[in-house]
Amino acid sequence: AALGSTRGPLAGRHLLITAGPTHEPIDPVRYIANRSSGRQGYAIAAAAARAGARVTLVSGPVTLPTPPGVTRVDVETALEMAAAVEAALPADAAVMVAAVADWHAEAAAAKIKKPADGTPPALSLVENPDILAGLARHATRRPRLVIGFAAETDDLLANAQAKLTRKGADWIVANDVSGDVMGGADTHLHLVTAAGIEDWQPMRKDDAATRLVARITESLS
Ligand code: CTP
Ligand code: CA
Repeated sequence: AALGSTRGPLAGRHLLITAGPTHEPIDPVRYIANRSSGRQGYAIAAAAARAGARVTLVSGPVTLPTPPGVTRVDVETALEMAAAVEAALPADAAVMVAAVADWHAEAAAAKIKKPADGTPPALSLVENPDILAGLARHATRRPRLVIGFAAETDDLLANAQAKLTRKGADWIVANDVSGDVMGGADTHLHLVTAAGIEDWQPMRKDDAATRLVARITESLS
């Protein structure tokens, strides 16, 4: 059990992190999902634990090992992720790195069979709750610092700034995924806050995690 350290700059703090994709079942054998390796979120959880925080990592399906000292809660769907986030409160800071599926399907109880005439089945999709916005506007237990990620291929900074306002987050970490970022070891982040935009330049995801955790530490102290 990870109780958090008595040492380190984040000792006594609780950090809540989401990571990975969500899987939304269509039927017992199929799902829709976002692309996400979980690497960035896991690196942030590891860095926060190294800094002495108690860390709850709410994780969608990924193939990564749990970082040392981190309490991991495995979920599959966005609705399960939302419930696990709520159950993990209170937290001093929340970092929502997960690539949450925007919709779930009204899942069929039995496997959908291919019709003989080749007509594709129609999927009826329902919007998932916005976990980040729900946390940022939480009526009773809003974490002091609420951070979202925005993975974009176009208009990176404009989209990130719009998400900062729309979701009520304190910071948005804008992630340019037009190149070879998905699943890779490197990333190019911008930190978008009400105070402005910082270009962090391309670096290892581990180094970006350490840098973000240092900024969180500063902000909480
Ligand atoms: N997010 C969330 N719950 C959702 C969707 C997104 O918590 N149902 C969070 C993500 O974890 C991320 C941030 O919101 O921190 C931005 O996610 P993104 O998919 O970029 O935002 P959307 O509002 O879904 O916009 P888009 O149309 O670009 O997908
Ligand atoms: Ca989305």
